[in-house]
Amino acid sequence: MVVLESAITAIGASIPVGIIVLSSLLWVEIVRDCYHTLSHHWSFLYRLHVWHHRVFRRDLSVITDSIYRQAQWYNDVPESLVMLLFSLLPWGVMKIWGIPHQWAAWAGSLYTLTFLLGAIARGTGIAYADELTDVTHRPGDFYSLPSRWFVNRPYHWRHHFDNQNAYYSGTFTLVDKLMGTALSLKNKRIAVTGASGSLGRSLLKHLHTKGAKVIALTSGEQNVTININGSQLPVKTIKWQVGSESELASQLEQVDILILNHGINVHGNRTAEAIAKSYEVNTFSSWRLLELFFQTVRSNEDIVRKEVWVNTSEAEVNPAFSPLYELSKRALGEIVTLRRLDAPCVVRKIILGPFKSNLNPIGVMSPDWVAKQILNLAQRDFRNIIVTINPLTFIAFPLKEFLVTTYFKLFSNKAKDVLAHLPNDDQSTVKTNSVDHKLRK
Ligand SMILES: NC(=O)c1ccc[n+]([C@@H]2O[C@H](COP(=O)([O-])OP(=O)(O)OC[C@H]3O[C@@H](n4cnc5c(N)ncnc54)[C@H](OP(=O)(O)O)[C@@H]3O)[C@@H](O)[C@H]2O)c1
Repeated sequence: MVVLESAITAIGASIPVGIIVLSSLLWVEIVRDCYHTLSHHWSFLYRLHVWHHRVFRRDLSVITDSIYRQAQWYNDVPESLVMLLFSLLPWGVMKIWGIPHQWAAWAGSLYTLTFLLGAIARGTGIAYADELTDVTHRPGDFYSLPSRWFVNRPYHWRHHFDNQNAYYSGTFTLVDKLMGTALSLKNKRIAVTGASGSLGRSLLKHLHTKGAKVIALTSGEQNVTININGSQLPVKTIKWQVGSESELASQLEQVDILILNHGINVHGNRTAEAIAKSYEVNTFSSWRLLELFFQTVRSNEDIVRKEVWVNTSEAEVNPAFSPLYELSKRALGEIVTLRRLDAPCVVRKIILGPFKSNLNPIGVMSPDWVAKQILNLAQRDFRNIIVTINPLTFIAFPLKEFLVTTYFKLFSNKAKDVLAHLPNDDQSTVKTNSVDHKLRK
């Protein structure tokens, strides 16, 4: 026991002060998010928390000042007090184990005090307290996408108006990522191309299970059905053909998430027709649908709800033993990397290893398992969703994506018209919301 204690003290002594400070801040943020999550699942706390949900209209303007102030006393002040109480825990642990630099663990308490004082100031109606201290609830247009690591206004809006049982995080998105609540699929209208294929059907099935309203986009003749507990459930099916993507324009207006999943593999064929077909189906039809979908992003709500997921393949970085499949999928992958620099909504890439399907009868993974993993990672807000048995892809793909993205940023110009079609380019709003200003710069 004495040996263990001295080992812990020695390890503790080697932790830099900066790490102790940052950990204590992260700790209180985790406490905040846990308290918030609990508030949605425990009716006693929800009775207090519901005041926070009564305050805002869909544009985040406040319904009445008195409700806003009351919500601070019922929700924000108790939340800060709980954070303050738990902020003492790291200090207590350090004290018990005799770890030096215990004062550094007070950083979390000091940090929490700023939130407590902010909540009290807002509760008492001190002028400008809300503007200065309540940045994720400021009204006005959105100028950036929901952020990946830090909660911004577009991220938090979804907690109020997309799904109150998701997007719980308050400052860092870590807790949502861990709980799988960083993207809600519930009630989202999700369209999948290549819907009658192996992965297409599995995606539709698992999306349906998660509460999404699924739409099958198929180039086949048959309406698409999915197998739910042994019985065939018909899915809303829309027919389309490569080359006639624009005919889908009006239907895409109604879609929240478009999953571009269709694809072919001409294997060893290297004729002129095989080249044309591979690029037309695998590259250009997906690119045309991507652009068409971008045009449907018109409002604040579109910016935060709409997404495109593009199934490019592990062939972006690894051989698929099919040159035209690799060439056409790599071309698609690079176009997506280029265009998502300016995308008006979230664009995810899906990078898959070999799974069994009509396209790849010798694939090792099952399409059902692959579909489950894709959704699992999307709900954790992975923007590059890698599902494979090849460990090299987990290194090669992020590295390649980072280098290509950097190269494209350096040697291409920002598309001037990004979000130009969105409402209200009022400069005063731009100033107030400088946090969300990235996309319009
Ligand atoms: N299987 C693998 O090992 C693997 C690995 C990495 C990535 N992928 C990618 O995963 C996606 C799904 O493939 P899968 O393995 O599930 O193969 P699949 O069962 O053959 O499904 C592909 C679907 O794409 C659609 N499609 C095929 N030719 C088309 C055309 N000319 N025009 C429009 N749509 C066409 C068809 O669906 P509709 O008839 O409903 O339109 C077809 O069922 C593809 O993009 C593929 O490249 C597969």
